[in-house]
Amino acid sequence: LHLSLRRQRQMCIRDRLNPNVTDLRLYDIRLAPGVAADLGHINTPSQCTGYAQENLEQALEGAEVIVIPAGVPRKPGMTRDDLFNTNASIVRDLAKAAAKVSPKAHMLIISNPVNSTVPIVAEVFKRAGVYDPKRLFGVTALDIVRASTFLSGIAGSKPADTNVPVIGGHSGVTIVPLLSQAQQGSSVSPGEQYEKLVHRIQFGGDEVVKAKDGAGSATLSMAYAGAVFADALLRAMHGEKGVKQCAFVESPLFKDQVQFFASPVELGPNGVENIPALPQITAEEQKLLFLSRDLREGRDVFNTVRAEFNRAREELHLILE
Ligand code: LMR
Repeated sequence: LHLSLRRQRQMCIRDRLNPNVTDLRLYDIRLAPGVAADLGHINTPSQCTGYAQENLEQALEGAEVIVIPAGVPRKPGMTRDDLFNTNASIVRDLAKAAAKVSPKAHMLIISNPVNSTVPIVAEVFKRAGVYDPKRLFGVTALDIVRASTFLSGIAGSKPADTNVPVIGGHSGVTIVPLLSQAQQGSSVSPGEQYEKLVHRIQFGGDEVVKAKDGAGSATLSMAYAGAVFADALLRAMHGEKGVKQCAFVESPLFKDQVQFFASPVELGPNGVENIPALPQITAEEQKLLFLSRDLREGRDVFNTVRAEFNRAREELHLILE
């Protein structure tokens, strides 16, 4: 069972084709029944139903996996954090309904700013007394997809064989690619080429926002990445062993600094099975993590993730009243 919201029709097409999806439910403030009728004609065994705005709880009832890409996209010049005021309350309302009617669902959060919307879902579930940190994920899969695409472009390798773990968070400098962990990482020259590649991975979302020129942000590559992550989770839920994906989750890795942190995570039937220690990272990668790169804000990765988390908490009393 798997539900998807708004903008991500491409993801729904992949879900209709995924043998582990038995019941695909679409919810949106408009058009979901029409999209579901269209998708429902694809000849795969799963059911597909669309729900109108007033039927949110019905759509979520008993769901095992809930994917939330809802909310407004960026315009050129905006950061993901600029979306907080609009998207935080949208995510809060969806999370409230999920906590009520599908408290055991795995929650896959795509809505930006992910570094803040994930703690919001955690808080809503905590207040409802149903929070399970193993089942809450900020989807950072697009950062991994971009890192693979851009590195293979330099290395001349097959993207499918070019795997770069990406840690930290999902906004600008909090996106930290571990190129040293990719076999092809050594084909990147130190200095300018390395820095340009890291910057492109960190600001890949901005590249799309700029190219779309006011018409939104990444939807197709995000839909692909979201479907890759959802598929991995569904395989792990069905008993496949050794499934590993990067995700922004409640993490012990830097728990004195931040509660949520993205890193490679082993998935199992109940969500997060294990969060392995980070591999040995290079001095350059340490710099990306620990040294201030955001000159405007004077923050390092931890400060930025913490600030976005604190903002979610501080404004929670307004949006969770
Ligand atoms: C992305 O990485 O493309 C998404 O988070 C959307 C955005 O605003 O950049």
